[in-house]
Amino acid sequence: MTKITAAITAVGGYVPETKLTNFDLEKMVETNDEWIRSRTGISERRILKEPGKGSSDMAVPAIEEILRKKNLDPKEIDCIICATVTPDMVFPATANIIADKIGATNAWGYDLSAACSGFLFALSSGAMYIESGRFKKVLVVGVDKMSAIVDYTDRATCIIFGDGAGAVLLEPSTDGLGIQDSILKSDGSGRPYLHMKAGGSVKPATAETVAAREHFAYQEGQAVFKFAVKGMADVSAELLERNNLTGDDIAWLVPHQANLRIIDATANRMGLAKEKVMINIQKYGNTTAATLPLCLWDWENQLKKGDKIVLAAFGGGFTWGATLITWAY
Ligand code: UT7
Repeated sequence: MTKITAAITAVGGYVPETKLTNFDLEKMVETNDEWIRSRTGISERRILKEPGKGSSDMAVPAIEEILRKKNLDPKEIDCIICATVTPDMVFPATANIIADKIGATNAWGYDLSAACSGFLFALSSGAMYIESGRFKKVLVVGVDKMSAIVDYTDRATCIIFGDGAGAVLLEPSTDGLGIQDSILKSDGSGRPYLHMKAGGSVKPATAETVAAREHFAYQEGQAVFKFAVKGMADVSAELLERNNLTGDDIAWLVPHQANLRIIDATANRMGLAKEKVMINIQKYGNTTAATLPLCLWDWENQLKKGDKIVLAAFGGGFTWGATLITWAY
């Protein structure tokens, strides 16, 4: 029997038009453009400003781009996996709302919560449905409206995050193209360093939790930084080693865009030249689950069939991982 692999056959993306620059932030908190650029690499990020709009409103245009490019009827979609920590609502799942909005009436789907590693975890999950032969068309979308959970009085977090969405279509390949291997990790003992204090079942929303500003992302940056540098570099190096590859064999590294210094450390550990590293943190900031597909979206025209690409991420949970892909088109 021919082995089926899961190939990415199209990419779509969406970022809102409104820009929030470092200079805008200088007027909101005690910070400055020089500090933000030198410590993170970020110059500006996009913000979904319109009232009443949520993550699905960014995921939908990203997916519609794919439907257009592939001339696909949404009814052909089998499954939608939506990686997000900022769902439209606690329930129902944003994947369901997306399916309704795009007319994917034959699809089932669910949300996957793994913070900045969400897209990587969702990609691996979607790939398994394709590899098993069960499904032919799986949409994987990474989307976050971080501006909904960022405290714009907290300079430790508000300078980092932005809003955006990226999506890929997974289809079967019998030529061995697509997702080759993944190393995915979770360690819940990292939860004190990056989380939202209230709004879950342990501490439901009350007037007090709102007054205490506990419905925003809380991060101890230095601690997360330390784990991220090691975690992302370790799995990326291990992935190369167990596939008998070196940095020379890799066409592109697609790293989670949290901090330029973490990206540099990962690339160095893999022995990769800077020209092979996708970096768009300067214009979008950290869009959590959307960073990896937004890189693929920005670089799609430069990718060639057969390119070996490593996707790597680290995020809240802690969650982290790396995935090796052979580009299919
Ligand atoms: O995507 C999910 C995973 N998240 C990450 O990977 C994020 C990892 N962490 C980071 O990227 C970095 O830790 C941050 C960018 C969040 C912070 O950078 P840092 O180099 O770790 O800064 P720090 O917290 O150690 O602060 C250094 C100094 C402190 O001042 P003193 O005590 O040295 O006088 C801070 O008070 O910088 C000060 N500082 C700021 N100054 C201007 C902290 N935030 C700011 C700011 N503007 N926004």
